Amino acid sequence: MLAESQRDRGVIVTASTSSDQSFAGRVPIAPQQVDAPLTRSAIFLVVGVVDRPGAMDTVRDVVAGLEGLVKTIGFRDLPAQLSCTVGIGARVWPELTGLSTPAELHPFKEVRGAAHTAVSTPGDLLFHIRSNRQDMCFELERLLLEGLGDAVTTIDETSGFRYFDARDLLGFVDGTANPVGPNLPASTLVGDEDPQFVGGSYVLVQKYLHQMSSWAKLSTEQQESIIGRRKADDLELDDAVEGQKSHKTLNTITDDAGEHDILRDNMPFGSPGQGEFGTYFIGYARHLWVTEKMLERMFIGDPPGLHDRILDFSEAKTGCVFFAPSASLLAGLAG
Ligand code: HEM
Repeated sequence: MLAESQRDRGVIVTASTSSDQSFAGRVPIAPQQVDAPLTRSAIFLVVGVVDRPGAMDTVRDVVAGLEGLVKTIGFRDLPAQLSCTVGIGARVWPELTGLSTPAELHPFKEVRGAAHTAVSTPGDLLFHIRSNRQDMCFELERLLLEGLGDAVTTIDETSGFRYFDARDLLGFVDGTANPVGPNLPASTLVGDEDPQFVGGSYVLVQKYLHQMSSWAKLSTEQQESIIGRRKADDLELDDAVEGQKSHKTLNTITDDAGEHDILRDNMPFGSPGQGEFGTYFIGYARHLWVTEKMLERMFIGDPPGLHDRILDFSEAKTGCVFFAPSASLLAGLAG
């Protein structure tokens, strides 16, 4: 069942995402493909559904027809690898889908540590739009919002860009430890534990703003011990045996079943003229509790009190949870 759904989403056939194939004249990316290729640009669009008759019907039509819209725009430049994944929040899930709620779907749970808080903010739908061309992301967002009309209000739109060799604005390569091979679908896609929602994925997003001037005052060695990797060549540092743990170590979740991974496709964003420098965090997971555990370890600390020091230089401005259903479930909402 899981394998069938993974094929449905193009996750297993990773070759289908290669640029060779995209030049061959086929739409390269299956709909709702959580592991769509890393691209040069992305837009993260979070909207709320308005409370008026007919709004939910409009939204349902648009999300069920998303595959067609992505093809319409994506086909105009296949190597640009346009993709879009839509996530649906807990508040609107029942009415929008007419289905029971996926086992772990609930609104973002605020995590309040002694020094920093992972805030919970509103958001009913997330559109994660990726392409190598910013204009293609823009065009998809434009047409999506045209279709949604006054059924939604925009809560946040963030345009991200790939920064040199996949670095965040703190200067570190971001995304290295993402799962690969068979571990990728196993960590990101719901399996038989929730049969109705096989092939879907829990998506958690947070928009962080960095205090760059204080970060820049740290030595490279201090920054490296906060992240847990070397800055220039990205090599992993050893985990601390006791005391303060690095970001990398706090986000390594293990139990009797082994290590639990998530898939991240974070993007830098910003506006130097406004003094804005940020990281848009996005994590796809088979089990929402894994991402939530990471947040708990970052904000409360392990041991409690020793929080992730990345937070002393990065403030979470938003926090939302969504469920990205499989392509077939999404298309089935039509009519
Ligand atoms: C300010 C926002 C953030 C920045 C700039 C950031 C940056 C980084 C960097 C540079 C790495 C090391 C390279 C890599 O493996 O990707 C990393 C690792 C990681 N981060 Fe973050 N991150 C942020 C927030 C988060 C959040 C909120 C979570 C989870 C809820 C998270 C989960 C992870 C995980 C799972 C790893 C890999 C750990 C491992 O080595 O197994 N990150 N992050």
